[in-house]
Amino acid sequence: MNEVPTTVNDTDDSRLMAWDSHWQKTTNTAAFEESTPLQDYLQSHWSDFLSQAITPDSDTRLIDLACGKGTLTELALAQGRAESDRSFDIHCVDTSFNAVKDVAERLGITTAFQADCASLPYQPNSFDIVVSQFGIEYAPLHAAKEFARILKCSGRFAAVIHYKNGAIYHDCNEKLQLFENVLSLSLFEKALDAFTAGYAVIAGKIPIRAFHKADADFAPVIEQYKQLIVSTNSPSKSLLIQILKDMGFMYENIESHSEHEVNAWLASTKLEFINFKNRMSSMVNAAMDEEQVSQLLAPFLAKGFSKVLCERLSVNDDLPFSWFVQISNVGV
Ligand SMILES: C[S@@+](CC[C@H](N)C(=O)[O-])C[C@H]1O[C@@H](n2cnc3c(N)ncnc32)[C@H](O)[C@@H]1O
Repeated sequence: MNEVPTTVNDTDDSRLMAWDSHWQKTTNTAAFEESTPLQDYLQSHWSDFLSQAITPDSDTRLIDLACGKGTLTELALAQGRAESDRSFDIHCVDTSFNAVKDVAERLGITTAFQADCASLPYQPNSFDIVVSQFGIEYAPLHAAKEFARILKCSGRFAAVIHYKNGAIYHDCNEKLQLFENVLSLSLFEKALDAFTAGYAVIAGKIPIRAFHKADADFAPVIEQYKQLIVSTNSPSKSLLIQILKDMGFMYENIESHSEHEVNAWLASTKLEFINFKNRMSSMVNAAMDEEQVSQLLAPFLAKGFSKVLCERLSVNDDLPFSWFVQISNVGV
């Protein structure tokens, strides 16, 4: 796993931590677990691309950039083995240690590395195929020269990229606003004050009127939180309701839970909300418009490649949700 040293040193980056925490918890392999039809749709595009890119009679080296838990890696692995008689060598990188660990263990890939796309630990012209699904756009634009650098002159590059102002963008932006609003209420901080006062009264450390003050500060925040729940149609609504119920149950039955248990629940739930908000924010910020896609592709064109495809993908006449770009020299 550490055969290639990690190039990730920005461990304080809240967006990277948000993804790492997500991959640690989720059992889903795709980043868009709520949209299975989308994954099926994307898979058919990737299958067509891979069929053209994998050469049956020569060795192939492929890399999946920002692989997450390996949705695309898994597809490429199966297709490479099925369609090539020669060696099919697959690499993948992601800044998330937990994602890469899962890919290595679940798919048995020994060349899965924790690395930043902006600084890839590979020699120039190392790969026949470079791919990414909702991945490279999370790295800064200047990282694009790395993608062109590691691609062989005879190679092919393809990427599915978040579409700015598209369907996924709007979905993530709505969730981002909702969780920003929830966190701005200081719900968890006010709850902690009220619970702390409650336990202090039980222990006889403070008079009941001190608890009434903390309780009175907490009540309007709960009302505002309820208003946010009522006013949203987000798929996250049921989660927010569940948190309200759990918090209410603990508050009503404070003596059945230890202070340590309640504090740990408040802290971990707040962290989960922050990580979710940061993950939504990273998706919104990663989305690209046409100009940014052109800038992303520029280093490939400078190396002599041609743009084969740059299309907007959408399902059922909905807004586009992504770009699908392909770069090659082959057959152009
Ligand atoms: C939307 S997920 C996509 C994962 C996977 N490709 C998929 O389709 O499910 C974005 C991934 O990019 C990774 N990531 C973000 N910034 C990165 C960077 N600079 N270099 C490498 N990976 C990065 C995150 O850890 C996350 O796993």
